[in-house]
Amino acid sequence: MRRPPASSVRESRDGTDWLMTGHTWKRFAAIGVFALLVVGGAVLSVALPGRGEPRETPAPVQAMIFPKDFLWGVAIAGQQAESVPASDWTKFEAEVFRAQRFAQGEKLGATPPGHIRDFGRWPEQVRSHKAGFDLRYDQDIDAAAQLGLNAFRVSIEWARLFPRAGMTQPDPDAIAYYHKVFAAMRSRGIEPVVTLFHYVSPAWFFDADVHGKRGWERADAQALWQTYVDAVAENFIPEVRIWCTLNEPMVYLYDGYVIGSYPPGEKRGDFAGARDVYAALLRAHVLAYRVLHRVASSRGASVSVGLTQNLEVFEPYNRYSPLDRALAWVVGKAWNWDFLDAVASGRMRLTTTDIDLPIEGLAGTEDYVGVNYYSRNYVRGDWRHPFAPDVGNVAPDLPHEERNDLGWPSYPHGFYEMLTKVGKRYAKPVMILENGTADGADDDKQRQRSLVAHIREAWLARRDGVDIRSYVHWSLVDNFEWNEGFDAKFGLIAVDYDHDFRRTPRPSAALYGDIAHANGLSTTMLRRYLPDLDASTDAPGR
Ligand code: BGC
Repeated sequence: MRRPPASSVRESRDGTDWLMTGHTWKRFAAIGVFALLVVGGAVLSVALPGRGEPRETPAPVQAMIFPKDFLWGVAIAGQQAESVPASDWTKFEAEVFRAQRFAQGEKLGATPPGHIRDFGRWPEQVRSHKAGFDLRYDQDIDAAAQLGLNAFRVSIEWARLFPRAGMTQPDPDAIAYYHKVFAAMRSRGIEPVVTLFHYVSPAWFFDADVHGKRGWERADAQALWQTYVDAVAENFIPEVRIWCTLNEPMVYLYDGYVIGSYPPGEKRGDFAGARDVYAALLRAHVLAYRVLHRVASSRGASVSVGLTQNLEVFEPYNRYSPLDRALAWVVGKAWNWDFLDAVASGRMRLTTTDIDLPIEGLAGTEDYVGVNYYSRNYVRGDWRHPFAPDVGNVAPDLPHEERNDLGWPSYPHGFYEMLTKVGKRYAKPVMILENGTADGADDDKQRQRSLVAHIREAWLARRDGVDIRSYVHWSLVDNFEWNEGFDAKFGLIAVDYDHDFRRTPRPSAALYGDIAHANGLSTTMLRRYLPDLDASTDAPGR
């Protein structure tokens, strides 16, 4: 189901406790209730500022130009854009297809766990090739180059390299495929940015080991991962210099193990229930970080290695409720910071639990912090079940807030907030590795506005001291949006699935091209796409 969207991604539907259960919660409850009454009372006694304003960070309208070596890119991922026949996701898709769990009546953004929206409507060729990137990568990379982009984020798929259990060497055709993809990028002056784990693993990784454990909980999970990472490093360094070990670990944990909408489809109810997977992902990150650096230095090359986190703004549903306020803070801490804090400190500490686990070699294993940002959420508590907050995307005082096709609110100022928080918290270079919106309209006005508004926030965060090195847009082309199937359109370029994956650029593609060519935003762009800025932020006397 993924992030906050519509049905409220991490909401407590079917009795799921959003965070933790058991005695740790009781302790938290006792301290929390007392603190809430005191602090909440004090907070509420002073007038709260209006919410939802500013949607954009106030600043004068001026040209916003980025440094010379700034990376302007687009992102896609294997399972979403190409054929990966032997993965856990492919297996899940086949099961969904067989059982016809297509969620046809559901609203876009509200597909229940175990389903893929409208999946049955597509022919086999589309279901298996997704956006058809592997059939036309040359054309797609060329389109990115034509836009003036100099970075392209893709994932290498573990299942493509190691489709069968027990393989010790990668499939040579898979290696050849990725060499061709990276060569197509390099020959056009495009820097590949490569993800190692974008939610997807080989199907066999989920066969039970002798202890009955599967996937990341297998006793040999790290050894299996190492075989994959060794092969990747061996084959693609120095061809690839920028590496992203894990994509959005919290989304994987939440969707795969808390609510069960992604494979392996487990409903453990909270992150504590997935603690071993959580720890295994941190260990997998350390291992990859070390292998990539070791191979690079043995070849006199240098690499930049990090992971990317899905950062979301969490606000109280009711601004006057101390419970909503406290829960918004707790949820935000658990979702946004626990994993990144662990990488910085070397200890896995889960908010509202007593889990505090040192992970060997973890501290400081990141050359940059990766940021994926899309939206904000509203957290609502219920005094009768205070530990199972709902996380949704409509606030009572903002019923008409602009939302995308999936129901996610557009909140550019939150991008600034998140970037500046990351900058302060970790004091590392920051790579924006995803930002975008679902807008399937032919004229995609929302995407155009969103592009300009978010790039503006990134520029302001840079101005305010955050060392941002890239802006990577999700996505170049429409693709397979996990449980939402093919109906959520994230592409600068539309894909016609009924006509051999034909590509048609939306107006936002040309706009992004203009931004990349100008290396930033002109005042004309700002005035054209964000006309309200003049009135609100550039008025005389400000
Ligand atoms: C993920 C992508 C996804 C995108 C839009 C990110 O969370 O990394 O796989 O398609 O958001 O939902």
